[in-house]
Amino acid sequence: MRFLAMLAFLGGSALVPVATVPAQAAWPQADPRPGFHFAPQRNWMNDPNGLVYYEGEYHLFFQYNPHGDRWGHMSWGHAVSRDLISWKELPVAIPESDVMAFSGSAVIDWKNTSGFGTGGKPAMVAIYTGFDPKTRNQSQYVAYSNDRGRTFTRFGKVIDIGSTEFRDPKVFWHEPTRRWVMVVVRATDKAASFYSSPNLREWTHESDFSHPSSSRSINWECPELFELPVRNGARGEKRWVLSVSQGDGGPDGGSAGQWFVGAFDGHRFKLEPNWPDTPRWTDAGADFYAAQSWNEAPDGRRLWIGWATNLRYASAIPTYPARGLMSVPRALALQREGQDWHLAQMPVREIERYRTKVQRLVDVKLDNASRALDPGDSFDMTVTIEDTDAERITFTASDAQGYQTVVGYTPATREIFVDRTRSGPHFHDAFAARHVVTLPQGNGPVTLRLLVDRSILELFAADGTRTITDRFFRADGPLRWEVSAEGGSATIRSLDVWRLAQPDSIKSR
Ligand code: FRU
Repeated sequence: MRFLAMLAFLGGSALVPVATVPAQAAWPQADPRPGFHFAPQRNWMNDPNGLVYYEGEYHLFFQYNPHGDRWGHMSWGHAVSRDLISWKELPVAIPESDVMAFSGSAVIDWKNTSGFGTGGKPAMVAIYTGFDPKTRNQSQYVAYSNDRGRTFTRFGKVIDIGSTEFRDPKVFWHEPTRRWVMVVVRATDKAASFYSSPNLREWTHESDFSHPSSSRSINWECPELFELPVRNGARGEKRWVLSVSQGDGGPDGGSAGQWFVGAFDGHRFKLEPNWPDTPRWTDAGADFYAAQSWNEAPDGRRLWIGWATNLRYASAIPTYPARGLMSVPRALALQREGQDWHLAQMPVREIERYRTKVQRLVDVKLDNASRALDPGDSFDMTVTIEDTDAERITFTASDAQGYQTVVGYTPATREIFVDRTRSGPHFHDAFAARHVVTLPQGNGPVTLRLLVDRSILELFAADGTRTITDRFFRADGPLRWEVSAEGGSATIRSLDVWRLAQPDSIKSR
């Protein structure tokens, strides 16, 4: 039993055996660290934690090993940004102590319900899992900061159910019940537990939620719960979204996120009637895990960010001196398609301020032909394709050694895909794969948005309701990009590809 629990824990926490890890490969020379995605300067990073906006700063805490580029010594690393793109990395905010500081969330206690505030200012309160390496117990801890998240004082343990599989509390203020609400997982039971509290110190168990769609997974991790407007619904229509990450059994066999739509009354999550028994994946690619959203984001936006990797090969990612990368922050909405629900994700608008030189194509007909693009290493592209009888329209990135990564659209099946079966030198057996998602029915033009930042690509289609997030690697040297129509013709009604300027914070690292 203990052994089984341990196995599940290993699988679920990216504590993958290190045997497959190649010698510390540097970011290939002409392929330095990504330009506008957050990575720590060095060492290992996993889940985003404690996302909260306060006094003009978006806080991004993260699972961090300050002592090496493999998982271990889990602490909360810290970065801040004023625009979600340009990040400043700060010293570790919650170090490992007698317990490792596993994943969790942060709130601003405006009403000083906890009494942790000082001088009329609210405290920033972190609620996270303390993992005791001796007993393997996982329980929920509280720490607070009176200096805008720079340092935290530990209050102590607030929930202990005597479990080795109880983690990742997400806490927020629930105004209708005027209580703090926590969603936390009993990981290997694949259950989300809901708790409430008047003061962040004393917690009451309210209810549990689980679902048959996770039968193939070993666990649930990193839950999220928030309300979203239904963008094509009745005026003011909203629903609650519960998302969970699961350690394996995703669309590609590896780790992935899934989500549910329902109602939440502060006590219980009630699933939308006729919800399918099959999983609704957060992303059709391999590399979007442990997504968390910002508490307190201004303008009513719901923004989230994910850890851009897959647990199958997270420890083998061939980058040095940092191993671990975040996705671009994304704005969320809910959309209805008939009886079906879709979670829509688009890159935050702030990224548009970093657009520089543009290459534009208008009404270009490609007939079994290719056209070179010159987007640089970090770019933001929007393309609209129409009148196509081609088998495939592809955007191919090739390096000097013939490694290729292909992003494409197959009109006959209305599928978009990312093919990285030939992308980059081999570093893990599970990496080479093709990821596919189907667009809504229809025969009009198709618009794709592609963000590329050196070793990550994020594809958004159908207004963000279909996404593919994938890492990709290359041998040394620059990439050549071209767009082609294969097996027929297609018209590019418009294509804009903007190079993205590197934020100053990243240049100065
Ligand atoms: C997810 C996870 C969490 C845990 C953390 C430990 O990747 O396993 O469940 O809190 O990582 O680093």
